[in-house]
Amino acid sequence: MKRSDYFRAVCFLAALMACMAAARQAWAQEREPLEVYRERRAALREKLKDGIIVLFGNQEDTGSEAYQVFRQENNFYYLTGLNEPDAALLLAPPLQDRRSPYWKQFSELPREILFLPPPNPQQEKWTGPKPDLYDDSIHARVGFAAVQGVATLENEIRRLAPGYRTVYTLLPSAHASQMETALYKGRLEKLQAILPFARIQDARRALASLRQIKSESELGLIRRAVDCSIDAHLVAARELRAGLFEYEIAALMKYTFERAGCERPSFAPIVGSGERSTILHYNRNRAQLEAGDLVVIDVGGEYGHYAADITRTLPVSGRFTPRQREIYEIVLGAQQAAIEAVKPGVNLTGRDSGSLYQIAYEYINTHGKDRHGKPLGKYFTHGVGHHVGLDVHDAAVPRTTLEAGMVIAIEPGIYLPEENLGVRIEDMVLVTSDGYLLLTEQLPRTAKQIESLMQK
Ligand code: GLY
Ligand code: MN
Repeated sequence: MKRSDYFRAVCFLAALMACMAAARQAWAQEREPLEVYRERRAALREKLKDGIIVLFGNQEDTGSEAYQVFRQENNFYYLTGLNEPDAALLLAPPLQDRRSPYWKQFSELPREILFLPPPNPQQEKWTGPKPDLYDDSIHARVGFAAVQGVATLENEIRRLAPGYRTVYTLLPSAHASQMETALYKGRLEKLQAILPFARIQDARRALASLRQIKSESELGLIRRAVDCSIDAHLVAARELRAGLFEYEIAALMKYTFERAGCERPSFAPIVGSGERSTILHYNRNRAQLEAGDLVVIDVGGEYGHYAADITRTLPVSGRFTPRQREIYEIVLGAQQAAIEAVKPGVNLTGRDSGSLYQIAYEYINTHGKDRHGKPLGKYFTHGVGHHVGLDVHDAAVPRTTLEAGMVIAIEPGIYLPEENLGVRIEDMVLVTSDGYLLLTEQLPRTAKQIESLMQK
């Protein structure tokens, strides 16, 4: 081999190894350290001291019907980091009463058990290998001292439940689909059949109180989702022009963040131009962009199961008309006022004078007018924001005030169907001990910045 060939081969190998290292790192970033999940389970057991906790993961369709990408139920994922189907989880807090007749027997039982389905070679042909319940390395791999087959769940519930007053599980949420509600009801009935005298309670609120405060490693994943989504918004702003279809913008954005490692959009992309900019969750994205229109682009990617949620409203022609600019600046002023008010102790929702909602509403209602000379407050037709995390509208305890470590989206808007003019601006904010950090700071937000970005 010539010296130069040798040199080239060494460079190639070095580059290949760097790529493999990057790929491994990307894989490793997809979930948090196992220790973090263990601490969360301990925190949940501490919160729900009087009961055992039984949670079920999502299921996978079988054989050739399993053509959807599997995604774990978010509460289950939050406690395990396990993105595998058909698993269950049983947590048992230490018994409160040392005099309990169950004390001796129970204090020797495992405090947490992960239940996995048995190996299913037939299913693995369709959706690939699953963690093997009988493999010696399974405990280290999933971070549980006790891993058992799902068939033993019922027995373990029977064994542990008598020591406690309550069984906590997930009851269907208020927003659940009919299918989800039926699934949860079926599980509830099963639990009731196993333990006819148990008090069955919802674990959702306790989980929400944990989930609403983000760990350092969650923040790392959220930042990745945000950064990939910012890149997607930048590409959209640079490519935007009359004649494109809304779905082309959505496709370009999905391509951009998925290429950067996002698994999927964190919700169906919303690209609404012209009159569709006034439809809050317009996600059909079938229309063609017309010169002079505005387009609301509410799109975010999901990285390591964590969502980004960002909205920009752009002028298709690259310049806002005077009326579009006027409305844009009112929404921006309202958003800025709300963002600047973010700090621990403040209310996100609610109508009290210091809440972020009220700050944004007051700003909108005291700036500008509709075509009939009336204030604009009534055209701000949704909430001011929401928590963001594993769910794009993330779990949070209703009416709690902001605390350090929360991540929220702030997204005021004005929608004027009479003028085919809708504006929404949405940014993500981390609440810190003395204020906030704008996670989406890198994405241009003022009308002037947007116009100059679109000239490039
Ligand atoms: N970005 C969509 C929503 O918050 O509803
Ligand atoms: Mn949002």
